[in-house]
Amino acid sequence: MKEAIEQIKAELAALKAKTAAEAEEARVKYLGKNGKVTKLFDDFRSIAPEMKREFGQKLNELKKAATAKIEQLKEEVSSSGEVEASGNDLSMPGDRLPLGSRHPVSIVRQQIVDIFRKFGYDVAEGPEIEDDFHVFEALNFPPNHPARDMQDTFFVSAGHENPLLLRTHTSSIQVRTMLSQKPPIRVICPGRVFRNEAISARAHCIFHQVEGLYVDKGVTFADLKQAILLFAREMFGPDANIRMRPSYFPFTEPSSEVDVSCNICHGEGCNICKGSGWLEILGCGMVDPNVLKACGIDPNVYSGFAFGMGIERIAMLKWQVNDLRHYFENDIRFLKEFETSVEV
Ligand code: DAH
Repeated sequence: MKEAIEQIKAELAALKAKTAAEAEEARVKYLGKNGKVTKLFDDFRSIAPEMKREFGQKLNELKKAATAKIEQLKEEVSSSGEVEASGNDLSMPGDRLPLGSRHPVSIVRQQIVDIFRKFGYDVAEGPEIEDDFHVFEALNFPPNHPARDMQDTFFVSAGHENPLLLRTHTSSIQVRTMLSQKPPIRVICPGRVFRNEAISARAHCIFHQVEGLYVDKGVTFADLKQAILLFAREMFGPDANIRMRPSYFPFTEPSSEVDVSCNICHGEGCNICKGSGWLEILGCGMVDPNVLKACGIDPNVYSGFAFGMGIERIAMLKWQVNDLRHYFENDIRFLKEFETSVEV
């Protein structure tokens, strides 16, 4: 019996398995019902009683060692590339899929939204397929305004009183917000807009805007100016300045266009700002009393300001991209330029 124990010990030491099946085979060979170790226990019953103590101990140790060895083999094959019958090694690490980068328009939209969220604005959204009321009528566009022209607007269903159309600006979300909420209202509304324009370096039929709206008691033009200045400094750096030029929009009175100091030449004059030192970034104004009225808000009690900007335009200024079409062509070489800008 002594030799048998030594023999099995040596065998166990040399035991190897490449697959789970081989490890299981080894278990059966040594510890199974007719296994070599199990058999020794049968033999043990018939040895002389005075030898039982010594061999009992040895046998128990052998069984322990065999169990440990087989456990070890099983573990090894499960962690080190077991090849299944199919030929696939299920334990191999997977192929890494390269992560894409966020689109520059998404990056800038998020930045704009984050800045206004810090100022206490909520995000509001609205449908891309809108109707005449929300895009034009409630915003004080007169009935024959050229924006309603087929050359400017994509109509989904024309020929009746309130036709469906693709929204031409995110100002429609102001209307929806004012109709559904009571002041104080402070919202920022990002979204995709559509215009019937020929595609060029400076225009596209699809682009993105962010609209802002603040309505409360006693809101003034000074509040508007301060909000835009703070935004410009967050977006373009602490040295940024703004200037406001009088303008006209049907939905604001007074209205203004806002320029930011050129962040490339810092006011010296370069070809991006065409030598002026200023870059136009948005339109804004005090919400016209007619708009408040159309949205069920009393203009004698409340006032408000609104602003709207093109996301692509802000992105172009930020990264000095000179052709709007880059944003829509999904050329991976262009998109990869923004990889490092991804904030996780
Ligand atoms: N809706 C305007 C556009 O599409 C942008 C705009 C200008 C929005 C002035 C406003 C505003 O809210 O006050 O060009």
